Parts: sequence; structure tokens; C-alpha cells
Amino acid sequence: MTDIESVQKEGRVFEPPQGFRDQAHIKSLAEFRALYDRSIQDPEGFWAEQAKTLVWQKPWSQVLEWKPPFAKWFVGGKLNLSENCLDRHLATWRRNKAAIVWEGEPGETRTLTYLQLHREVCRFANVLKELGVATGDRVGIYMPMIPEAAVAMLACARIGATHSVVFGGFSAEALRDRMNDAQAKVIVTADGAWRRGAVVKLKAAVDAAVPAIPSVKSVVVVKRLGDDIPMSAGRDHWWHELVEAASADCPPVALDSEHPLFILYTSGTTGKPKGVVHTTGGYLLQTALSTKYVFDLKDEDTFWCTADIGWVTGHSYVVFGPLANGATTLMYEGAPNWPEPDRFWKLIAKHRVSIFYTAPTAIRAFIRWGEQWPRKHDLSSLRLLGTVGEPINPEAWMWYHAVIGASRCPIVDTWWQTETGGMMITPIPGAIATKPGSGTLPFFGVVAAVVDKDGKEVPVGDGGYLVIQKPWPSMLRTIYGDPERYAETYWKRFPGIYFTGDGARRDKDGYFWIMGRVDDVINVAGHRLGTAEVESALVSHPRVAEAAVVGRPDELKGQALVAFVTVKQGQQPSDAVRAELKEHVVKEIGAIARPDEIRFSEALPKTRSGKIMRRLLRDIASGKETLGDTTTLEDYSVLAKLREDEE
Ligand code: WTA
Repeated sequence: MTDIESVQKEGRVFEPPQGFRDQAHIKSLAEFRALYDRSIQDPEGFWAEQAKTLVWQKPWSQVLEWKPPFAKWFVGGKLNLSENCLDRHLATWRRNKAAIVWEGEPGETRTLTYLQLHREVCRFANVLKELGVATGDRVGIYMPMIPEAAVAMLACARIGATHSVVFGGFSAEALRDRMNDAQAKVIVTADGAWRRGAVVKLKAAVDAAVPAIPSVKSVVVVKRLGDDIPMSAGRDHWWHELVEAASADCPPVALDSEHPLFILYTSGTTGKPKGVVHTTGGYLLQTALSTKYVFDLKDEDTFWCTADIGWVTGHSYVVFGPLANGATTLMYEGAPNWPEPDRFWKLIAKHRVSIFYTAPTAIRAFIRWGEQWPRKHDLSSLRLLGTVGEPINPEAWMWYHAVIGASRCPIVDTWWQTETGGMMITPIPGAIATKPGSGTLPFFGVVAAVVDKDGKEVPVGDGGYLVIQKPWPSMLRTIYGDPERYAETYWKRFPGIYFTGDGARRDKDGYFWIMGRVDDVINVAGHRLGTAEVESALVSHPRVAEAAVVGRPDELKGQALVAFVTVKQGQQPSDAVRAELKEHVVKEIGAIARPDEIRFSEALPKTRSGKIMRRLLRDIASGKETLGDTTTLEDYSVLAKLREDEE
């Protein structure tokens, strides 16, 4: 018996359109395979060659030092990330190219060229130095999606301060715990932000948190709103005042390739958040390289990744990856449905966005709101689409492809994690045919496999655990201050092999299909089912926008299958629809996956980055009070509403 049974039967295949292939960096599967094979057969040679695309202040002496589970890449090499993202473009025609195009939620815009961004970064780096921040210190960044957030990240990198961005939607308590763990010396914030037409009071949260963070000596505040806010004398400073007085001359510090670039906290299964540590050389190389090849990025592109800088996607693919490539990256401050559900499409039309990268949770919201919204806008500038964050249901993929991509744009479904730093399993859009719901093949240098509980590879088509068998340049190096937890969490289950925590299967073409987190697997009458496949069957019904399935204890079957379903706008939930959906799942998958219960819900509980929190749904399905950690929950009222609708 295999560990997780796969029941999905998706069979559609989309070849890269010829026009896309012709202009792509990598134009065929053969070309991709040649590079990939080289990256596996001679990883050190491959990465050494790729690393020449970066500027090094001192060459490395050894590409990889691997003492499981601790890796060092480009040992002895010295470089500076901000120099790679900024200074090197100044010697080229890109000096006056737009680096960041920004739009605020109320609609104002700002553009920073590479020259201007470089100047702002240098000045803010000097500000940090004047506040006593030295190489090796930690700086907290708790900011809205405004250009100063990117400036702060790059300024830290310039002087070798390790930044830790905390998502601006997190509470004062969450900020306090993370900053205490990181021992931050300075926190950079703003007087507030706009979100769905309302003001988010960031500085007020900082004021509540800082008295309980002894390490914080100074707070720097960007004036975003201009409201009157209390400033604590000696501790709080206005960004614009400090920057005005600062010199724009700040040479990039030569940092060890393994110098910690950032700490990003991600929630673990136990309450305490994990500080995932990424370092400089390997991280920058893999994010820069994947940005170039996965997005087929060209100088003419306007690239938009909708992630907040509070998530790893915002680090790697809003800021560092695009800037390392000299690209134009769009940053948007606000909500997708403000003032109306077409804001994203309006932005794409206005800024002529050519590459658009978002999350399945956003795509499911778009589907729910209806295709009249994108239809109102000219999306013809788009040439490539991407997704990340969760398995994308094949029907959601098809909608994205048809309605947003006009059946013309390839879709890159990129699998990776905060811990992996950069993309790991992903299509290369001019080379690899895509299948809706599959991340397709591993990226350069990535040795991925699906194994059973003994670590043995499972046969083609069977479900199992997704593991990565060799170290890769942008891998996390440790959990901040807790190397034991690092070893225990990721490297113990399969000794010497990285365990992702995800279930997956591989098809006959070697394509990977992610089946969801293994903690969420449901055991029905001895069959272990991944959540993604059953949910995808539900989402393939024309009435359904979003679905989450969980198990609840059942005397007979071990677990009964409970589905939480959100219908599209204009659809009415009813008992007849319940029966219809159950039959639909039976038809798509088989009787084994027939939901025992279907609950309709206006919304599902999600993390702030948009992932469905099945753990909470499990408690609701079994009638339990929620005892676990709910601090990452986006909207508390969702839980109360969910308890109301019982079949
Ligand atoms: C899930 C986000 C399927 C997966 C970069 C992973 C995905 C977790 C995909 C990491 C994808 C991310 N297909 N599942 N394309 N991308 N995931 O740390 O469960 O926020 O382990 O990093 O999201 O989430 P994280």
C-alpha cells in the first residue's frame, strides 16, 4: 500500500505557443534538458558557471561545502546583494530605466529609476549606520507595500544588516515575538497604509510592541498618510528627515557569501514561528536565475508579482530577483477589489504589465467575482502568467488561462517554499508543456523525488512524500537561533534528505503534482487522500468557486470527508446543490471520495498569505473548539460563520 493514494485524472496538455517559444530564452525541451542534466551531473560546475552572472568582490574558493544538514555555497566568496541589484546597472543604459513602478491604493503613482533607487538605498543605508546599525545587526521592517520597503531591504543588504520583514497585517503581538526572537535593533515602519479604503495603523502597532522589545533602540517612520501620530522623542524618527540629511555615498560592503541576508518568520505546526535564515550568494543566484528563466524575463517587460514583501515571494520575486536582472518591477499597495473587483486588471491595462504572478487564492476570488471584471479591460499586454502558494485546481488554471491569458499566455505554476528561497519545481515557459494543476519539472540543480515512509521512491502515479535529495544554492541555512529545530524539522524524517512536508505524485512524464500538506491528508476507510485532488474535483463543478476538504472522526470509516464549499456569485446553495456536488465528486474521482457532508460558506479561513487553514476546519467539522494557534488567521469572523451552516 502506498502512503497517499492519488485519484486525480487530469489529462490536458498545453504546449508552449510557437510564438512564445521563438522569442524565449530557452526554446525547447531538449535545450532545457541539456542544461538540467548538466546541473545534476556536475552541479558544482554548473553553479560556478552561473555564478559568473553576479558581481563578486572576491571569488569563492569552493562552490559547495555540504556537511548535512548544513550547506555553504561559494565558500570564501564575497559580494554585496545591493551592488548586484543596483550599482552594476548604473554602468549600463539601464541607469535611467524604471526599476520600481509603484501605485498606491488611492491611485497615486511613483517611478524610481535604477539611478534614483540606488541613491535612496545609499542614503538610507547611511541613516541606518548613523542609528548605530552595524554589519551583522538585525533590522525589522514592518511596512506597507511602498517603495521605501524595498529601499529599506536593499539598504540593509548594502551594509550587511540582516533584515526581518514582518507582514504589515500582523498584530503588535506577532511583531513583538518576531522582533524579540531576531533581537532587532531598529524597526522601520510607516505612519500607516491604505487597505480596502481603510487605514492600517502600523505605527500604533509598533508603539504597542516596542516597549516589550528591549533590543529596539530606534524606530524610523515613513510618512505615508500624513496623519498626526505620536512620536517618542529620542526613539522615533521621520524617514524623510533622516534621509534628507544623509549622504548618498555609501560603498557596498563586501560580505561573505554565507552572510545572513534575511530572517523570515513562517508559522510552524507548533505555535512558535520559525525564523528561516537565508544567506547571500546562493540565495541571490537562484532567485536571479529563476526570475530570468521561469518568467522568461526581458528588458522590455513590466513584471508584476502581487505578493506582499511580508512573504518570501515578495522578497525573491518583487524585489531581489527582478532587480538583479535589471527589470522593471511593479509594486501595488492595496487590495485587488478596491474600489471595485477589477483593480488588478485596471493596473495591468494602465501599466501595460507583461508578466503577472499571483496566488491561487486570488485566482479563486477572481472566479467568484465573475469574468465581467477582467473583460472590461485591455489585457493584451500580458504574455506570461504565473501562480504560487497552493496547488491550483485544474479548473481554476483553465479559467486563468482562458479569461486572463486569452488562451495565449503560458502559465508557470511554481512550487517552492519560504525555506527553499527560490523556485524548485516549475515550468520553463518556452520549453516545457504545461498540464493544469502540475508544477511540471524540477528547476536547474533540483533533485526532487516522491518517496514512501521508508524513503524509497514510489512507482509512477503513486502518491507519497515530496523530498529534495541534494542541497541547492538558495536553501535555508538554519532556523534562527535554533539549529536543532532546523535539523529536526526538515532533515530527520529522511536522514540527509530535505523533507518538504508536502504530498505529491509523479506522472509518466516525470511531472510533479502536489497533493497538499501531508498533515492535511484524510484517511477514509484505509485510503489516504490528499486534499488537493478532492478539492479540485469540487472546483471543477461550474457552480463552485472554492473548496476545502477535511476529515472528521467517524466510527465506521476512520474519517468522514467534510467539504467546505464557496459558490460563485449568483449561485444559491441548497440541498439539491449539495446532492449534485456529491454526485459530481463520485463521477470525477469515485465513490471513495464522496463527501459525507457539504457545508456552504461565504468564505474559508485562510492565513494572511491566502492559504486555506484546514486545521481550523477540522476542528469545526468535528464540533471542537479551536484550541490551536489562530494568530495567522486573516479574518476571525469567518470561523463563527462557518459553525452556523451544518448539513
Ligand atoms: C504550497 C510560498 C502547490 C506548498 C512560496 C508549500 C504550492 C507551501 C505551490 C510553501 C504550488 C507553494 N503548487 N503547492 N505551485 N507553491 N505551495 O512557505 O504546500 O508560503 O510547501 O512559500 O505552499 O508556502 P510558503
